[in-house]
Amino acid sequence: MKIAIGSDHAGFPLKEEIRKYLDEKGVEYVDCGVYDASSADYPVQAKNTCEKITSGECVRGILCCGTGIGISMAANKVKGIRAACCSDYFSAKYTRLHNDANVLCLGARVIGAGAALELVEVFLNTEFEGGRHQRRVDLITDIENTQ
Ligand code: RB5
Repeated sequence: MKIAIGSDHAGFPLKEEIRKYLDEKGVEYVDCGVYDASSADYPVQAKNTCEKITSGECVRGILCCGTGIGISMAANKVKGIRAACCSDYFSAKYTRLHNDANVLCLGARVIGAGAALELVEVFLNTEFEGGRHQRRVDLITDIENTQ
């Protein structure tokens, strides 16, 4: 499973922790930047990272900004992306089980790296339940296709 990761300057230190974690776990990834802590506009990294998923190159993504919110708003504008901004374990797990979220957004100024890596772990290792949840995900897609 290949993962796309990205961040703005505020999320950069957390993205680097996630990169180390993925290296340790042997998970393949594409780092869509940023590559240092210089000021950056999070919609740019959101778009670049999400396009790795919609193109089929990567299956899931992880995005970091200060709150996780701005980058998730931008990510959710990309057709085919279901991004979830999470800061607790339950949400990171259930957004996979029930929403088939394909991008996890994290706030580097909200949670510490230790907690964030637990969310990454469960997000990457939990499969979508399907069933009645598929119908609801399809209804999300219908909204996307009719706006
Ligand atoms: C950058 O200062 C900050 O606004 C950004 O990282 C993010 O938190 C926006 O939602």
